[in-house]
Amino acid sequence: MIKAIRGTKDILPSEISRWHYLENIIKQIFSNFNYKEIRTPVFEETTLFGRSIGEETDIVSKEMYTFKDKGDTSITLKPEMTAGVVRAFIEHSLGGQQPLIKLYYISPMFRQERPQAGRLRQFHQFGGEALGSSSPVLDAELIQISYDILKSLGLKDLTVKINSLGVPESREDYKKLLREFLLNKKDKLSEDSRKRFDTNILRIFDSKIESDQELLKGAPLLIDNLDGESENHFEVVKEYLDKISIPFEIDPKLVRGLDYYTKTTFEIISKKVGSQSALVGGGRYDLLAEQLGGKPTPAVGFASGMERILLACESENSFSVKDDNIDVYIVRIDEELEMFVSETASKLRRSGLKADYDYLKRSVKAQMREANKSNAKFVLFIGGEEYKNKMANLKNMETGEQRSVQLDKLDTVLINSLKR
Ligand code: HAM
Repeated sequence: MIKAIRGTKDILPSEISRWHYLENIIKQIFSNFNYKEIRTPVFEETTLFGRSIGEETDIVSKEMYTFKDKGDTSITLKPEMTAGVVRAFIEHSLGGQQPLIKLYYISPMFRQERPQAGRLRQFHQFGGEALGSSSPVLDAELIQISYDILKSLGLKDLTVKINSLGVPESREDYKKLLREFLLNKKDKLSEDSRKRFDTNILRIFDSKIESDQELLKGAPLLIDNLDGESENHFEVVKEYLDKISIPFEIDPKLVRGLDYYTKTTFEIISKKVGSQSALVGGGRYDLLAEQLGGKPTPAVGFASGMERILLACESENSFSVKDDNIDVYIVRIDEELEMFVSETASKLRRSGLKADYDYLKRSVKAQMREANKSNAKFVLFIGGEEYKNKMANLKNMETGEQRSVQLDKLDTVLINSLKR
């Protein structure tokens, strides 16, 4: 039997109402902040990701789904959205139409990581990107959007972590300090961290290995070595977060796994989802547009894993949704009325009602079972004596109340009854 590929998941009809609930909250909150949706292709030219996320990052060096298409172009399934959004921003000169453009997205992403709870190979992210302003207020706004979405889902156990990575110049000076600090400890570092010592020394802070963390104790911190402008920027972000009542912690080790960040970085963590605890990750990326061939455009954004969020909601039991129910189920009493029942259902559907009926020539009892299963608010019995008088029997499934209704007035009767 052919099965879904490891690390991918079918989202079945029984789970879809939770996804719809989440998606509606995302759309509502982004629209409150006047963000517009953008959809970019699922695949892009491979070079886009190397040039933005960084060739040495785990994502680009180990995790991308890359293949040659029939025209021999190297294609990659998008592992994240920021690169594609900035590519589209430049390609369509979106900055020329509006000095500040605020965008959001909901989309599948692909990373060939080791699958585990909360970590998939095809997963879904929603996120927001604001391009065109260097104001620290926007950094706080994006943190607020992600935080408010999680709060609206009823999540409580959340920690907002923030840090600043400064600008490349101050970061280079700092990297020298860190290199000096770690130089005589290098041999004791784990293999991965030893590699990072040469390729991207900051990422050593990301190591999950205890002995690495032990060796880092007392290391100089980037946050204590920021340039003046980054320091001021960070102060305003913190001040504004306080003003809008977002509790946060400063985490000097929050270096993030993508190379494009400048100044603010942030994550929102939930302790309720095991080791894959980051629900949200983001930060400022003031140099990326220029790096990809566009005009200098300061920008900031975040993305959030939807499967992980739903896991957190499940473990906190933070919201419940009722299964979709239909307005009316039509039970056919006389077999020969099959065509009439189809016709009636189709009229009701055209009037905007959710209607269904039996397509399998089943008994009245089996039809009633189906009506119950579909959570119908009303059941309409068509047939028998009543039908001869152009009437049908309508049962309110909540109250049990039954009454005769004229067949040619069905839609208005139902619409009025549903309003009550
Ligand atoms: P990221 O930290 O790589 O950042 O991913 C953001 C979020 O996506 C993570 O916090 C996690 O919730 C979810 N996620 C990542 N990988 C997986 C996976 N394999 N399975 C399930 N969920 C996953 C970015 O992607 C940046 N583009 C964020 C950003 C936007 N920065 C600025 N703008």
